[in-house]
Amino acid sequence: MAEHSVWKSGITLAIIAAFCTAIVALTWQLTAERIETNKKEWLERSLQPALAGLFFDSPVTESMLTIPPPHGLPGSEAAIIYRVYAGIEPVAALFVVSARDGYAGPIRLLIGIAMDGNVTGVRVLEHRETPGLGDRIDLTKSDWVLQFDGHSLRNPEPARWAIRGDGGDFDQLTGASVSPRAVINAIRETLAYFEANRVAVFAAPTQSEDEIATEVD
Ligand SMILES: Cc1cc2nc3c(=O)[nH]c(=O)nc-3n(C[C@H](O)[C@H](O)[C@H](O)COP(=O)(O)O)c2cc1C
Repeated sequence: MAEHSVWKSGITLAIIAAFCTAIVALTWQLTAERIETNKKEWLERSLQPALAGLFFDSPVTESMLTIPPPHGLPGSEAAIIYRVYAGIEPVAALFVVSARDGYAGPIRLLIGIAMDGNVTGVRVLEHRETPGLGDRIDLTKSDWVLQFDGHSLRNPEPARWAIRGDGGDFDQLTGASVSPRAVINAIRETLAYFEANRVAVFAAPTQSEDEIATEVD
């Protein structure tokens, strides 16, 4: 009799476990697609600020290119490029690169460049610079990063892509020159890369999500 009740409890538990597993699997399936869509919408929105003043009509996130190092862009991690189009006409490229020589480590940057070579916007995506000093490169702390809009590789000439203290044309941050130098160098290097590789950047086929996952792994 006791053996019978152990079996009964075991089978009941197994049924409950299978039922719970099915509920979890179903919920995951229903929400995974929504999460993926939300992630894409969020990324799309976060890229817009670096595209000031441009007309484009296709989702930026759909033309992504991941370039594993060595790639000639700032940073030792993979660089990401989003191609921006109006119809079939390329209008800009958005680069996600890393300035290597921040005060406290790499500074991940989003840099938008229009086809005429002008900067359309720069945003600091990630950094570990010191609060109150280097963190003013971040737009949430100061508008320092807005000064690059509309400049290009020859405006000012490359040698003047530096803070004023180093003989350049750009503002520094009081008590913090290391972080601004790192950001300015990374923007200048990205502008030079775009000038040299513009055709190749737009000729490269858009990667499938599988290809991107393999390269990033
Ligand atoms: C604890 C500490 C944290 C610092 N953090 C930064 C930083 O995040 N970014 C930066 O550029 N300088 C930082 N500095 C200052 C640099 O060491 C350096 O003195 C400064 O960038 C030079 O700026 P200046 O040429 O305007 O004097 C920090 C200094 C200390 C002592």
